Amino acid sequence: MEITKIFAYFVIALFFLFASTQYLVTSLNVSTLCIKEERVALLKIKKDLKDPSNCLSSWVGEDCCNWKGIECDNQTGHVQKFELRRYLICTKTINILSSPSFGGKINPSLADLKHLSHLDLSYSDFEGAPIPEFIGYLNMLNYLDLSNANFTGMVPTNLGNLSNLHYLDISSPYSSLWARDLSWLSALSSLRYLDMNFVNITNSPHELFQVVNKMSYLLELHLASCNLGALPPSSPFLNSTSLSVLDLSGNHFNSSIPSWMFNMSTLTDLSLSSTSLTRRMPSMLGRWKLCKLQFLYLSYNSLIADMTEMIEAMSCSNQSLKSLDLSQNQLFGNLPNSLGQFKNLFSLDLSKNSWNTHSGVSGPIPASIGNLSNLNSLSLEGNMLNGTIPESIGQLTDLFSLNLLDNYWEGIMTNIHFHNLSNLRSLSVSSKKNTLALKVTNDWVPAFKNLSYVEIRDCKVGPTFPNWLTNQVQLNDIILENAGISGEIPHWLYNISSRIGILDLSRNKISDYLPKEMNFTSSNYPRVDFSHNQLKGSIQIWSDLSALYLRNNSLSGTFPTNIGKEMSYLRYLDLSHNYLKGSIPLSLNKIQNLSYLDLSSNYFTGEIPKFLMGMHSLNIIDLSNNWLVGGIPTSICSIPLLFILELSNNNLSADLSSAFHNCISLETLSLRNNKFHGSIPNEIRKNVPSLSELLLRSNTLTGSIPEELCHLPSLSVLDLAENDLSGSIPSCLGDINGFKVPQTPFVYPVYSDLTQGYVPYTRHTELVIGGKVIEYTKEMPVHSIIDFSKNYLSGEIPENITQLIHLGALNLSWNQLTGNIPSKIGSLTDLEYLDLSHNNLSGPIPPNMASMTFLSRLNLSYNNLSGRIPLANQFGTFDASIYIGNPELCGDHLQKNCSSLLPGNGEQEIKHQDSEDGDDDKAERFGLYASIAVGYITGFWIVCGSLMLKRSWRHAYFNFVYDTRDKLLVLMAINLPRLKRKFGLESN
Ligand SMILES: *[C@@H]1O[C@H](CO)[C@@H](O)[C@H](O)[C@H]1NC(C)=O
Ligand SMILES: *[C@@H]1O[C@H](CO)[C@@H](O)[C@H](O)[C@H]1NC(C)=O
Repeated sequence: MEITKIFAYFVIALFFLFASTQYLVTSLNVSTLCIKEERVALLKIKKDLKDPSNCLSSWVGEDCCNWKGIECDNQTGHVQKFELRRYLICTKTINILSSPSFGGKINPSLADLKHLSHLDLSYSDFEGAPIPEFIGYLNMLNYLDLSNANFTGMVPTNLGNLSNLHYLDISSPYSSLWARDLSWLSALSSLRYLDMNFVNITNSPHELFQVVNKMSYLLELHLASCNLGALPPSSPFLNSTSLSVLDLSGNHFNSSIPSWMFNMSTLTDLSLSSTSLTRRMPSMLGRWKLCKLQFLYLSYNSLIADMTEMIEAMSCSNQSLKSLDLSQNQLFGNLPNSLGQFKNLFSLDLSKNSWNTHSGVSGPIPASIGNLSNLNSLSLEGNMLNGTIPESIGQLTDLFSLNLLDNYWEGIMTNIHFHNLSNLRSLSVSSKKNTLALKVTNDWVPAFKNLSYVEIRDCKVGPTFPNWLTNQVQLNDIILENAGISGEIPHWLYNISSRIGILDLSRNKISDYLPKEMNFTSSNYPRVDFSHNQLKGSIQIWSDLSALYLRNNSLSGTFPTNIGKEMSYLRYLDLSHNYLKGSIPLSLNKIQNLSYLDLSSNYFTGEIPKFLMGMHSLNIIDLSNNWLVGGIPTSICSIPLLFILELSNNNLSADLSSAFHNCISLETLSLRNNKFHGSIPNEIRKNVPSLSELLLRSNTLTGSIPEELCHLPSLSVLDLAENDLSGSIPSCLGDINGFKVPQTPFVYPVYSDLTQGYVPYTRHTELVIGGKVIEYTKEMPVHSIIDFSKNYLSGEIPENITQLIHLGALNLSWNQLTGNIPSKIGSLTDLEYLDLSHNNLSGPIPPNMASMTFLSRLNLSYNNLSGRIPLANQFGTFDASIYIGNPELCGDHLQKNCSSLLPGNGEQEIKHQDSEDGDDDKAERFGLYASIAVGYITGFWIVCGSLMLKRSWRHAYFNFVYDTRDKLLVLMAINLPRLKRKFGLESN
């Protein structure tokens, strides 16, 4: 008893002794492990750091080796690893991505951590500070990651001291790091991984690649968007035996792919997206040695290559290749059957190789596509593919995304095409020829249940709404445009409306009332497009919509007065071409983000509501073809980015002379067919400086045409016809630059929620050209117009009007003009319409008019012209009626010979002119052909380019938009492959 008790005490005592020693040992261990100086240094660093999410809360006490992000050497106790990466440290924060990053300053005592071998400061925000020089003193470092940390300025050259580095990442898409001299890199000869993406390298690429050539252990080289201007003609990787990843995307090489690249047999990843690669690819047959290649990204270039040849040439990669992105190039030719051998292909993207209407990858999809059993994503959008879609596509069990938009498909797609597609999430099909139908049995239950995006355009799906969509439990976006659907909106759509992002049923024959039961509450900017249907009844209030397009239906009733309050998230509202009546509610002012408002062609009455400062996003207002009265609220000019104000065909009346004040951004002002009076707006150059289209036709404006108009640099459409203007035509008209440069359709960039980017907005308004009302389209014959017809203008036509060499239509008819037709009028070589009729013009028809070969409509009737009518060119085709009312004219057309003219006088002059014109003509034609050739080459960019050059203000805006977009594209192009690989492919 006693003994056992003693024994028990002994055991307990022993246990305590043991435990306490153990404790002592542990604590002793720890205090020896964290070195005091280093702990002090870390605390200084912590003090200077901004830590908004309090992620460094564990940095207390003695035991710095146990602090988050710190690791010590377990022998010496020196801090070895310092990781400030948000994703690793802030694990408690619920949403790491949205939590604010570390920031502030890095205390120089970082340099006291002399034994540091691993330093990671990535994904922080050091607020544009330079990379601290003292990092260059940490010469034990073998891992250094300073990426995405908002460092700016020059990369310090003393990073060259870090000769032990294996891993260096200083990439940073947001900041502006630059490097002028990269000779320090040559000291880093042990590098395995080098990432300098987005660092602006001002070295010559030649020097850079020379340095890289010394890195014989290099495995990965990332030099995306480094502003490199050229690729070396021979391989810069001769010493490297193991390079496997090469990313040079986002640079502007402006050359073809150098052939040494096809020899890099160790490469697994090659990214050359957005590198301005051009020209025909060198024939790759027999040269392609990239037999380990898994990822090839060549998108956003201008590569010209035959698809068949390319796929054949790549045959040694047919077992390795996982992802092939050749989108946005100029590829052509058919897809060979051998495509089916690339069995490990996970993603195939050949989209948007049509750079004009006759180009792109062509022919049918080979049936062997069904062999690509790992295919997850297939995009063939925007090519010239045709034929029937092979049924074998239905075997692609892993297919997640199928994009067959914008090709020339024919025939029928049936259940079989979707037979095994049990993983399909996104389906997009359209046929530009409208020759495709989707015919599935009525009771078809698809193998896929999780479709979230469906886009079918220009393809017959109807007449009934596709029933098979009802089984999809994740459906978010439904686009069934021009799909031959008629009847009602199915009720099951009501139930899923709360998760719908896009519902686009435009251009069908749906004849229903707008269902009240729908409730678009998705947080993903829900947008609804029912335009071009037969919808009836009144407008429905759907609260959370971001876009509502109801153009061209049979909707009636009044505009809900509470719309501004109830639909305050709207950005786009198009109710045009309906039967709506009543007044336009002032509550629209509450829609702060509204950018596009089209209420045209309805029966709206009352005054234009006073648009207020608050609507800072409005770009376009179209209220034309209504019954609006009153004036234009002056507050309209306080909308900072208003481009288009279209108010034609109403009953508006006001003194126009003082209607506009500081309309800085207004480019199109259309007030046709109203009752405006007074003079043309005062100080128009100051008040509407960006004006390029001024349409004041059919009002009762008086006074003269102000000289100030000549100082509007962008003016290219000037329609003042059918007013009571008097005085003479200002002689400075010939100075307006807008008529001296080629004009293209007037396209505005408008933000689209659908594509989440800027898209060209082509408007729906009209112009009067050559006496005809023409809807404003891209195909419009001319885009550069002066029309002063039906006024009381007098005096002569200013001679310098002939300097407006790109003028497309000139109408001065029905005035009281006198004097001669300007003798150099022949220099208006772009002119297609010329009407000078019903004036008092005298003198001859200038013979050089025969060189205006584009002239298709001419009217000179009812003047006092005299002499011979030219015969050459299109003058041979004009009808005699265009000369009527000019008794002194003579010539074959009028069956009135010119024998009364004195010989050696008019005749000789004409002959002389004719021969001169002949030469001009040749030169001109050469110019025309040359420009056509250039046009074909540069294609779309000519259009866009000239658009950008034309109008300086918009230029800036456009540039901003495109810059942003380009940056995003580049970012995407660069990061997407990485992300794809990280999240998808590596598991494969
Ligand atoms: C010290 O750490 C290294 C790796 O960091 C590990 O391999 C080793 O086993 C550790 N030694 C001791 C004694 O814990
Ligand atoms: C980088 O720092 C600058 C300057 O403080 C700041 O304006 C900018 O927003 C920061 N950028 C990022 C991406 O954090």
